[in-house]
Amino acid sequence: MTVVPPYWRSIRHRELKSRIVEGLSAVDTMMFDWSKNEQPLLATSAQHLLSAGGKRFRAALTLLAAQFGDADAPAVIKAATIVELTHLASLQHDDVMDRAHVRRGVPTVNARWGNRIAVRSGDFLLARSAQLAAELGADVILAQRSVLTRLVQGQILELQGPSPEEDALTHYLKVISDKTGSLIALAGRMGAMVAGAHPDIVEVFDTFGETLGLAFQLADDLLDISGNPASSGKRTGTDLRQGVDTLPVLLLRALPPDPHDPADSRLRVLLNGSLHNDRTHQEALELLRGHAAFQQAREYTTREAIKARQMVRELPRCPARTALLDLCQNAATRIA
Ligand code: FPP
Ligand code: MG
Repeated sequence: MTVVPPYWRSIRHRELKSRIVEGLSAVDTMMFDWSKNEQPLLATSAQHLLSAGGKRFRAALTLLAAQFGDADAPAVIKAATIVELTHLASLQHDDVMDRAHVRRGVPTVNARWGNRIAVRSGDFLLARSAQLAAELGADVILAQRSVLTRLVQGQILELQGPSPEEDALTHYLKVISDKTGSLIALAGRMGAMVAGAHPDIVEVFDTFGETLGLAFQLADDLLDISGNPASSGKRTGTDLRQGVDTLPVLLLRALPPDPHDPADSRLRVLLNGSLHNDRTHQEALELLRGHAAFQQAREYTTREAIKARQMVRELPRCPARTALLDLCQNAATRIA
């Protein structure tokens, strides 16, 4: 697998970069410690994706948000660990739901040990993250609790699909806000909160994180269509295979069919059928990548990232603010 350096490696301010790198290493140590268990199967399956690496995007955001208060407060590393453990738990459950085989360049927990172990060890990671949250007090527990509800709600809404009277794009945006925006917003909020930043700053991280999370998931959905498994560490085409309409497909369906474009007509036929067959699935992916709706979806994603950047400008000027501005850019254009 090609190793794509995570965005925080490109932080330009040297001192800030080394603080973030050190912080992330402490988060990794804490994640491993908190996912140990006397039952070897539980510990090994819970640490499987952890050992495979990952971007640690959410943990890095928590650490950056903490720079707006006392970044050395002992609760900061715990807050980042809570968010990453919650994320990891949700990925294990998501891979069961999506019948995914590969994540972070390695077989998923469900592919390796089966669905029952994958769900149980995801539960375990979630329980450990809740236990760690309990150490930080009521504010952290309350913040985590409402996000857990939204994560599950987002997944259920995605499974259900839009009701006949509902606008499909509005439904999709609600799904991705719940399943991704909520946890990314929590990452920033918790960092600022436990570092004792001013409540106005905590508030900025809340709204900024939701928008950044939206851009991040929109980019993830584009990668599911056009990404390179060598850099994303995942197989492409899961959404199409599962019949989940993401932004490019929704934009395509909103466009009038072009009777003079055989590729457009063929793609519409394919999208209205089942894409479980490898050949038609591959054909649909290729046609979608070349369709105008795909380019429109890219532009939509960039606009969301620009909105997130504008929110960052409300923060006081400092190296962390510059790093957050770069992070918005990276969230929309990322390849991993
Ligand atoms: C990935 O979506 C999935 C999520 C961001 C949320 C998953 C949430 C749950 C399974 C609810 C249960 C939550 C907990 C904490 C146990 P995706 O399939 O679009 O992304 P992918 O390409 O990375 O798989
Ligand atoms: Mg998935």
